[in-house]
Amino acid sequence: MNAQPFTFAGQHILSVNQFNREAIEYVFHIANQMRPYALREKRTEVLRGAILGNLFFEPSTRTRVSFGTAFNLLGGEVRETVGMSNSALAKGESLYDTARVLSGYSDIIAMRHPQAGSVAEFATGSRVPVLNGGDGANEHPTQALLDLFTIEKECQAHGSTIDGLHIAMIGDLKYGRTVHSLCKLLSLYNNIHFTLIAPKELSMPTGILDTITQAGHKLTITEEFSGSLDADICYQTRVQEERFTSQDEADKFRGKFRLDQQIYTKHFQSKTVIMHPLPRDSRAEANELDNDLNLHPNLAIFRQTDNGVLVRMALFALTLGVETIMQQHERPVLWQTPTKSIL
Ligand code: NCD
Repeated sequence: MNAQPFTFAGQHILSVNQFNREAIEYVFHIANQMRPYALREKRTEVLRGAILGNLFFEPSTRTRVSFGTAFNLLGGEVRETVGMSNSALAKGESLYDTARVLSGYSDIIAMRHPQAGSVAEFATGSRVPVLNGGDGANEHPTQALLDLFTIEKECQAHGSTIDGLHIAMIGDLKYGRTVHSLCKLLSLYNNIHFTLIAPKELSMPTGILDTITQAGHKLTITEEFSGSLDADICYQTRVQEERFTSQDEADKFRGKFRLDQQIYTKHFQSKTVIMHPLPRDSRAEANELDNDLNLHPNLAIFRQTDNGVLVRMALFALTLGVETIMQQHERPVLWQTPTKSIL
């Protein structure tokens, strides 16, 4: 593979705009090398003594825990700050000051915050690399990289490539930061067909549409599921209720795009891979991705979450400049784990 060294060491990862195809390939090349550590076949202590400041000012389960797990799997320690009300931001401290302080206590920082642009603002005061774990409705670069890594694996399993992909994105495309970042990354590839299915009020921001069309990709925009879609990927999303001005407004769209076995069979091909950044809203009034698809072989949602650890390990190794010396710091695994076959 074409995996040229790319200089990540010391850099912040704030936006997918920082990546070109060569950089993405290098991240994926390193992510693939993380598999034996994630599977606990062996360990590495390459980041022994390093500290991750994991700052989550918005709810999170998998992003927060997978950042922490990825750092632990490389031998590092994790310090967590969770929730705005538990931090000095609630006393009026600026993001800059918080960054100046916390970067003195950490070797690297992962951060999520409800305001668009907040993580970049924080990074101006940080003395260590900052990884954006989601800034409002703006971007979620590490999620987009793990989604793309998953798409590449799913394509390989079907004998195809990302070039030429047809992806259908469904639901809240206005506030969904994962689809914003994923569209930008996919736009770096060739001949992508984007089918965007969303109510007008929740449609994809025009800046992202411009990125897609200016790169010469095919764009189909529709408000409803209709007919049969020859999509390779169906990427379902959650209504981002926390970004609406009122709960009533969000409720109008809840349950509008349900996907269950019957709807899937009606509108998609037997090859279509089902993705979702998670969490899926499983409450009856939403049920956007039904449990009756849980054992479907094309349901890739838990392959996405497993891949998230590999990709985040790669980003830590690259930004801390240890991606070529992981093997020199390996240790044996002294315990037995029953989960080896999952990845
Ligand atoms: C997403 C997010 O927070 O943007 N979740 C995630 O990070 N995996 C999507 C969502 O919350 O709906």
